[in-house]
Amino acid sequence: MAILVTGGTGYIGSHTVVELQNNGYDVVVLDNLSNSSPKSLERVKAITGKDVKFYEGDIRDRKILEKIFDNEKIDSCIHFAGLKAVGESVEKPWEYYDNNITGTLTLVDEMRKHGVKNIIFSSSATVYGDPAQIPITEECPKGQCTNPYGWTKSMLEQILSDMQKADNEWNVVLLRYFNPIGAHQSGTMGENPNGIPNNLMPYITQVAVGKREELGVFGNDYDTPDGTGVRDYIHVVDLADGHVKALKKIEENAGLCIYNLGTGTGYSVLDIVKNFEEANNLKIPYSIKPRRAGDIAICYADPSKAKKELGWEAKYGIKEMCADSWRWQKNNPNGYDD
Ligand code: NAD
Ligand code: UFG
Repeated sequence: MAILVTGGTGYIGSHTVVELQNNGYDVVVLDNLSNSSPKSLERVKAITGKDVKFYEGDIRDRKILEKIFDNEKIDSCIHFAGLKAVGESVEKPWEYYDNNITGTLTLVDEMRKHGVKNIIFSSSATVYGDPAQIPITEECPKGQCTNPYGWTKSMLEQILSDMQKADNEWNVVLLRYFNPIGAHQSGTMGENPNGIPNNLMPYITQVAVGKREELGVFGNDYDTPDGTGVRDYIHVVDLADGHVKALKKIEENAGLCIYNLGTGTGYSVLDIVKNFEEANNLKIPYSIKPRRAGDIAICYADPSKAKKELGWEAKYGIKEMCADSWRWQKNNPNGYDD
C-alpha cells in the first residue's frame, strides 16, 4: 500500500517524503508545481536511494485523481497541496478559496469514491487567530482569521471534521503547524520561495547570501520581552516526523484527532537574528519597520498532546534550525533553479 502525498514537491511535503521513505512507506506524489520544483524529488531520491512516483497535476482535476486511485494502491493521503501566501490571499481571495477549498473537496470526494478514508491535513496555528491563551492547547477556541488563507484552513478543518462525524470510517488527523523553518541536514533540500520572501527565515537567509540588503523587523512595540513578535519555530524535519507518527495513529483507526506541532518555546524576531548570527558566524543587518498588518504579538504551542498521544516531540533546537537553513541557502543560492 502507498501513501498519496499531495503537494509533495513543496517545502514540507518533500521533507515528509524523505521521512516516509526512511520509515518504509511507498509514496506517490501529486503536485501541480505551482510553487515548487520537481527537482526536489531528485534530491529526495539522492538521500533515500528510492524512487518517488510522481504525477504532475492538480487536486481539482478529477481525471488525474481517478487515474491515481485506479492505478496505485493508496491507503492514506497526506494533504499538503495548497496556496499559502497570506498577503496574496488578501489580493486574490477567490483563487485561494478555489484552490484550497474546491481542491480539498474534490480530493476527498475522489478518495471516498475509491474507498480511501484516511487523511492527514496540513493545518496551521493561524486557525487560533489572536490566541485566547499562551501556550496554545488544542482546546483553545479557534479565532477570527485575519486573511482568506487562514479561513481556508479553518473552514477545511470544519469540513473534514464534519465528514468524519457523519461517517466514522474516516480517520482524519488535523495537524496545526506552528512556524516551520530549517532544512534537510544534507543541505540539498529546503524552502524555495518565489520572489521576495514573506516569512522571516527565508528573508534572513537571503540577506545572508547577499540577495537582500537588510531585514525589516516588523514592529518593536509589541507586549513581548524585546518588543518584537514571538513565534514557535519548528525544524521542518521534526514536522515531517510528526506526519509519520500521525500515520501510525491512523493505523489505529483513531477517528478525528487534532494536534499542535510546535516545540513549546517562543523566540522573538531579534532572538532569531541573534541565534542565526551565532550559529553561522555571520552578521544580519536589520532595521525596525512598522508593524505588519494582521500580525499578532505572541504565538507558541503547548505540544504535550502530540507527545502523549503520538509519542512525538521536536528534537532539533533553534541553533540547528538556523544552521540547516543557512546550509541550504548557501549551497543553493537560487534554490532549485541552479
Ligand atoms: P509549498 O508551497 O512549498 O508546498 C505546497 C505544494 O502544493 C507546492 O508544491 C504546490 O505546487 C502544491 N500545490 C498548490 N496547489 C496545488 C493544487 N491545486 N494541486 C496540486 N498541487 C498544488 O508550501 P509548504 O510550506 O510546504 O506548505 C505545505 C502545506 O502546509 C500547505 O497546505 C500550507 O498551507 C501548510 N502550512 C504551511 C506553513 C508554513 O509556514 N510553511 C504553516 C502552516 C501550514
Ligand atoms: N517578520 C519580520 N520581518 C520579515 C518577516 C517576518 O519581522 O521580513 C516577523 C513577523 O512580523 C513575525 C515573525 O517575524 O513576528 C514571523 O513571521 P513569519 O511571516 O515568518 O510567520 P507568521 O507567524 O506570520 O506566519 C507563519 C505562516 C502562516 C502560518 C503561521 C502559523 O506564514 O502561513 O506561520 O503557522 F499560518
